[in-house]
This record gives sequence, structure tokens and C-alpha cells, in this order.
Amino acid sequence: GETATPKQDLAGVKVFITAGGTHEAIDPVRFIGNHSTGRFGVEIAKQLQERGAKVTLLSANINENLLPASIEIIATPSANEMYQAVMELAPQYQIGVFAAAVADFRPETQAEMKVKKTGGEEETLTLKLVKNPDILASAVRRFPHLTTIGFAAETGNPTQVASYGREKAIRKQADLLALNQVGQGIGFGNVDTMLSILDKTGETLTSFSGSKPVIAKELSALIAATYQSKNH
Ligand code: CTP
Ligand code: CA
Repeated sequence: GETATPKQDLAGVKVFITAGGTHEAIDPVRFIGNHSTGRFGVEIAKQLQERGAKVTLLSANINENLLPASIEIIATPSANEMYQAVMELAPQYQIGVFAAAVADFRPETQAEMKVKKTGGEEETLTLKLVKNPDILASAVRRFPHLTTIGFAAETGNPTQVASYGREKAIRKQADLLALNQVGQGIGFGNVDTMLSILDKTGETLTSFSGSKPVIAKELSALIAATYQSKNH
């Protein structure tokens, strides 16, 4: 039930979780960002902690009110800062959960001063963007000891979503990839969600549906089991 202490199958195991949405600076006061709140990552962090894990949350701009006092937080507002933190932490950790919405691109340069509207006659402004490092794919490559889980939210019909998911699972090579369909009112807010869980060959292992807290709990049990089987 809700109050029972879950099995301590992650006792003392060190886990980091990336969560929230990165901000990519344009100038000292502006950024490119996304709508991710980090709520689901925080929920997974709590569930893993309940199983005995020592959890560190790498927070990309998560609202303070959502962060539980019991969880160690490292602020990683941009993709590059998150990348650096993951590369430094990973050798000492056993599990990495990659729940953050990482901007795929950042402005090539950051203006030192606020970009001004006045002065030019131009009606357009062009920003040149460069690709950010793929934090999950890099961590999988550099730290084979790490149990890893990635997340993919895809749009399209169920057949397209399944095929994007398979491709992504194979490309990233994380131990687990949690895939869900978003768009047309699916997957946002407090409605029920369905997650398919793929392995690194793109095969569907299982699927979970229900409220986000319920799914976070089931996912945490699967992460624990995956960690156990990878280390025995
Ligand atoms: N991810 C990451 N670093 C990035 C981009 C993504 O660590 N620079 C992680 C996300 O946290 C997530 C997984 O990779 O766990 C999948 O992210 P997603 O954006 O779906 O994958 P991309 O490879 O960026 O593909 P897409 O073109 O669909 O955005
Ligand atoms: Ca992306």
C-alpha cells in the first residue's frame, strides 16, 4: 500500500537523475528553453530514494517548490553544465536516470550585452545555433558500468511513435528507454499516461499506465531490477 516501505533493493546505491528543461543563453537576460517542469523526474527521484538509493538530482531550472528537502540538488541550468556534471559524477554512481528535456541546440555565441532592438533597420534577427552534446549517449559510451534509462516523448500515430522509439533505443543504447506518445492532449498535465519500456535492441519489455506517481513507482521497481541483473 501507499505507506508501506518498499523493498530496500537499492540500499546505498548511488543514483543521479537529470530533470527539468535546460536554458540556452542568448544574452545575459534571454534564453531558449522548453516547457518541461521536472515534476516526473522529481517523482522518480523520490521513489528511488524510498528504495534506499542515495539520490542526486541534477536540476535544470526546476521550480524550488517542487524540490524535496531530502534530495541532494545540483543546479545544471544549461546542457553544457549538465553534461559537465554528469561526466564528473558518473564514475562514482551506479545508476543514471536521464529525464531532463535537454535543448538539442544552443546559440553559437552569447552576447555579453543585452541584444538591442534599435540601431538596425532589419525586420528579422537570425540566431545561429550549434548542437549540444548528447549527454545520455555520451554517458552510455564512456561509463559501461552505469545502469541507464532514457526517456522519449514522441508525436504521431502509434505506429510512427513505436518506430521512432525503436530507432532511438538502438541509437542511444541505454539499458532502458521509456517511450510515450504526446500531442493532441495526450501526455500533458495530470491525465493518465502510458509508457512503453524498450531495451537497447528496441524490443518492448513491458508497459505501464496510470497516474504519473503510479508510473514512477513501477518504473523505479524496473530500474532496481535492471540494476540488479546488470550487476550479478
Ligand atoms: N538527451 C540527453 N542529451 C541531449 C539530448 C537528449 O541526455 N542533448 C536525453 C534525454 O534526457 C532523454 C533522451 O536523451 O532521456 C532522449 O531525448 P530526445 O530529445 O527524445 O532524443 P534526441 O536524441 O535529442 O532526438 P530528437 O531528435 O527526437 O529530439
Ligand atoms: Ca531532443
